Amino acid sequence: MLSYRHSFHAGNFADVLKHSVLIHILEHLKKKQKPFCYVDTHAGAGRYSLTAEHAEKTQEYVQGIGALWQANNLPPVIDAYVNVIKEFNSQGDLNDYPGSPLIASHLLRRQDRLFLYELHSTDIKLLETALQKDKRVQLYHEDGFKHCIGLMPPVQRRGLVFIDPSYEVKADYEQVLEIILQLYKRFATGTYALWYPVVERSRINEIEKKIQASQLNNVQLFELGQLADSREHGMTASGMIVINPPWTLNKEMQQALPYLAEQLGIANQGNYRIKQLKDE
Ligand SMILES: C[S@@+](CC[C@H](N)C(=O)[O-])C[C@H]1O[C@@H](n2cnc3c(N)ncnc32)[C@H](O)[C@@H]1O
Repeated sequence: MLSYRHSFHAGNFADVLKHSVLIHILEHLKKKQKPFCYVDTHAGAGRYSLTAEHAEKTQEYVQGIGALWQANNLPPVIDAYVNVIKEFNSQGDLNDYPGSPLIASHLLRRQDRLFLYELHSTDIKLLETALQKDKRVQLYHEDGFKHCIGLMPPVQRRGLVFIDPSYEVKADYEQVLEIILQLYKRFATGTYALWYPVVERSRINEIEKKIQASQLNNVQLFELGQLADSREHGMTASGMIVINPPWTLNKEMQQALPYLAEQLGIANQGNYRIKQLKDE
């Protein structure tokens, strides 16, 4: 039984990094007229109220999107992210937070397609409502890990696979890479973005080692920490591993991550990493 609900965490520091990277990749894909596909293997509920019980309880968004909402002179990639979130809050106050599938459906064009997977029986219904019968979307109440392999290679031959598990099941740490390797075999030119939490650093070290030993090429890692590594605080940092990233992403993140570490870090422990895991 799945117990993770993203509504407790929406808009936190991990979402800031995750969704800034997502928006940059989608905007880059839009530079060509040719259609592309967006595959979200772990889509969540799509829209989150930051004034509802779950977000109010954890207040995680306060040291995430909340800390950037009124800021000036943001690094460009963060400015683009905050502007997208503002488009979901047209009254000016920060009340709603869009998840990855809503951000994508907002940014994609008529010719593009979305394939979304969500396994939680409540969140799939919320997602269906949030998408308002968008004709470009195929929504599956299925295991995104298993099912998305059948989509590859996509008919568009261009696109992003966004992989954002909750790692509630520890096997996810191993499964993510196995799935990516299978997808990559079928669609080596696609862009893949994998989110990971740093709860136990050794698990991430293991993923990095496996990527470096794999047949994947052109892989970059971007990590943002609120606290130094520790086993006592739950998730202290999180990162995005991007395969075939837009050539512009690294430069944008060089500017954005020091800023985010400073603004969103706790007790002066904010930190970041940028790493080329595999060359082109
Ligand atoms: C971190 S949340 C997703 C957040 C979303 N990607 C976003 O950025 O707004 C992970 C979601 O994956 C769902 N989930 C867990 N295992 C899954 C699986 N095997 N296939 C599809 N969805 C799954 C959970 O119910 C949860 O809603």
